[in-house]
Amino acid sequence: MSVAVVAGMQWGDEGKGKIVDLLAEKADVVARYQGGHNAGHTIFYRGKQFVLHLIPSGIFHENKLCVIGNGVVIDPQALIQEMDLLREAGLDFEDRLVISDRANIILPYHCTSDKSRESGGKFQKIGTTGRGIGPSYADKIARVGIRMCDLKNETWLKEILRATYDEKKVIIRSLYNHDLPPFDAVFTELMEVRDTLLRFVGDTHVLLQEQIRSGKNILCEGAQGTMLDVDHGTYPFVTSSNASAGGACTGLGIPPTQIDRVVGVIKAYTTRVGEGPFPTELKDGCGEMLREQGHEFGATTGRPRRCGWFDAVVARYAIRLNGIDAMVLTKIDVLDKFDTIRVCTGYRDGDRVYQDVPADPHILERCQPVYIEFKGWKENTIGIDSIDKLPANAGKYIEELSRLLEVPFLMVSTGPEREQTIRLGSLF
Ligand code: IMP
Repeated sequence: MSVAVVAGMQWGDEGKGKIVDLLAEKADVVARYQGGHNAGHTIFYRGKQFVLHLIPSGIFHENKLCVIGNGVVIDPQALIQEMDLLREAGLDFEDRLVISDRANIILPYHCTSDKSRESGGKFQKIGTTGRGIGPSYADKIARVGIRMCDLKNETWLKEILRATYDEKKVIIRSLYNHDLPPFDAVFTELMEVRDTLLRFVGDTHVLLQEQIRSGKNILCEGAQGTMLDVDHGTYPFVTSSNASAGGACTGLGIPPTQIDRVVGVIKAYTTRVGEGPFPTELKDGCGEMLREQGHEFGATTGRPRRCGWFDAVVARYAIRLNGIDAMVLTKIDVLDKFDTIRVCTGYRDGDRVYQDVPADPHILERCQPVYIEFKGWKENTIGIDSIDKLPANAGKYIEELSRLLEVPFLMVSTGPEREQTIRLGSLF
């Protein structure tokens, strides 16, 4: 038995979808612990590309139990759409998908607030996905959220929805000059999806504890990445949940003493979407080349991602924060065409060189990355499945990153397909 957490080490989009899908081979349960349909996990299954937003990436393995934890915020329509897509692909998950009865629901007023706040020009823009994630988590913390278990009792649901709706209506009108759909429409929409959802709802904490007690392997899947963590990321340009490994404890009800391993997924370069500081960002032809070679466009919103060099300051920070004992390096093939590859080892701000990520976004905005350089390999690495077959300079790059970060790599991904992977160790 083992419980392992998979967390993103950068600003999301590290390629966790493929890695969780691979690691799920030896897991019995895959459980998502935070975020919502802001996430986009791309997976190739039987030659076809799927983008999952809410359902754990383990769903593509028959007979794996998939859990959506209490730490996730769920947009009912988005979840149902995703279920339909999987059914169309011939996947059967009726008896192996369980949604936490404690998970909060995203309602239409959350999306209205999110989009209005971002587009109004009056407030600081975060560059959110506009999916209502932040407002939904805000309601959870303010204790006015509506949870999956509330769907069970129609009278109670109507009562609590009415109270929150009336408050939101006034706030949204006065702040953003927008109207909400009528209460009856919001309530009816919830009632229409209620039975579809309730079939999958259960106490996932109890379920996971039973699975752990009976010796099963549990893989806890995070969305986004450490630098988007609401507590430890580049606040305020973060998502509204704990994307780092600690989120697995609160978001699934698994105590810290039960977690055995933490795997960090990191890209061979860095990307981020939305606003906020990004010390190694490249605004030149190199950045453009990374975007083109890496197809760096958002899986959820289609937005072009900002691209830059590998940031070892961020990686070290993620290793410490998450307690990472093994890493997975993704998209090494994207660097195939570069003459020189750079890695940031510190942030220079005047006379001071930071080895850690400072909390103050102003420092992060103005600091200059301190780089070390590697010679490129200028050879194709796509699809290589053994470390010995890599060009010498690619091997050196990987070895040096591991030495610099003092953590071994479990896998190196050389393409989107399952087979395009160098396996260097096992998780369970
Ligand atoms: P929100 O999560 O939609 O509130 O967006 C907050 C920030 O997190 C924005 O910068 C988004 O672009 C970013 N973000 C949210 N989800 C993801 C993701 O899955 N990958 C990368 N960035 C994300």
